[in-house]
Amino acid sequence: MGGNALNDLNPYLHGLYAPVKEEASADNLPVIGEIPRELHGACFRNGPNPAAAPKGMHHWFDGDGMIHGLWFENGKARYRNRYVRTQDFELNGGSPLAGIFEPAREAAGRKVNYRDTANTDVIVHNGKLLALWYISGQPVAVDIGTLETIGVENFGGKLPRNISAHSKTDPETGELVFFDYALYEPKMWTGTVSRDGALTQFQEIDLPGPRLPHDMGMTENYVILHDLPVIFSEQAIRNRMWHIHVADQPTRFGVVPRKGGDVKWFEFPTSYIYHVINAWEEGDDVVMAACKMVPNGFKPDPKYGPYAAMADVLALRAQPFLWRMNMKTGEGREEQIDDALSEFPVVNNDYAGRKTRYSYHVVFDNCIEQRFSGLLKYDLVTGKSERHDFPSGVYGSEPAFAARPGASEEDDGWLVTFTADMDGNSEAHVIDARNFSAPPVAKVKLPQRVPAGFHGIWAKGA
Ligand SMILES: [Fe+2]
Repeated sequence: MGGNALNDLNPYLHGLYAPVKEEASADNLPVIGEIPRELHGACFRNGPNPAAAPKGMHHWFDGDGMIHGLWFENGKARYRNRYVRTQDFELNGGSPLAGIFEPAREAAGRKVNYRDTANTDVIVHNGKLLALWYISGQPVAVDIGTLETIGVENFGGKLPRNISAHSKTDPETGELVFFDYALYEPKMWTGTVSRDGALTQFQEIDLPGPRLPHDMGMTENYVILHDLPVIFSEQAIRNRMWHIHVADQPTRFGVVPRKGGDVKWFEFPTSYIYHVINAWEEGDDVVMAACKMVPNGFKPDPKYGPYAAMADVLALRAQPFLWRMNMKTGEGREEQIDDALSEFPVVNNDYAGRKTRYSYHVVFDNCIEQRFSGLLKYDLVTGKSERHDFPSGVYGSEPAFAARPGASEEDDGWLVTFTADMDGNSEAHVIDARNFSAPPVAKVKLPQRVPAGFHGIWAKGA
């Protein structure tokens, strides 16, 4: 994507990141190997795909949301990709809101300060996909069979504010358990929407200052909110600029009953967390596993010009940790699972909110440009891992775990991940989770490249 000299310097507009132009549809895709006939459902992945060449400074996180979908049934696969048609997308360049290199703006009737792209995450709720945004925006309902945008989902007008990316659905109750935050107010919110779309719970949480959480934990009975020390500076808040810094304050997790009630706060050493692996309850302990960012001695690389600081901030340097929070004694304990760097963790979502033994992470050969060269399967009990390497020059995406229908073991299923190479070819790899290091059981040839992106989900077939 050309357009201007700034775009030429932007590492997130080229190579694996270059946006695709087509909204494609293709059936009965060619396969190397064999798609397991039991694999029935679809893998979806959201990510940024700027529809027009950026005119000024462009952050990777600003691109228009696009969902890539791959449906499996009877040993065959079909593909589609579609933009998430948010309110700002439909304004077709006419939105008063801009990306995060610009100052925050106000827009009448809107509860967001930046252009809402819904580009970050996609979850399944009430028979639909919901595309979500990391700055917390209006969820966008998307048809699970066609990827056509249905429209903004406000649950019959009952949604009081916004919903952040990484809100979650409970596999047993079907509830959507969400969180929301505001850039310039010392508040967070959490709530629940029932299986069939009724808002059943909503609660405001007071904070010492505005916060920038990225994820949350969900257990059967609790939500775990993140009060992290990477925040806007005072000056940034005054000037409404997206300038973050690391404050000298602890990391705090706020455990809130899902049915509503007082927050119990637990303090831990300073850290930042993008992504939670899973959370669960064990006796009186609420336990959260997540990838914790570790300090680094990197200096921004001048080859990226004005984008050097962005590339540095986006570099993923995280290790898996576990936090135990005792609801009776109020004591907390932090435990490191492993010292290898990994991120974009997923679990078998049938176990979301329940104790999991296995998680699947991406690993990188270049954490600045986030080229995902392989996957790790962690045994969270022993800290041991197995590795699955993509072929040389082929890079993967956050995988989705597809449980084998009727499975009784947590890791009985497949990981599905979109891959891309530097020549513009993409495949989806289907990896047997119990034979993890082996080559994929199937490689599905896709009709176009799937750019590097953010998060996905597996949706079981009906
Ligand atoms: Fe994320």
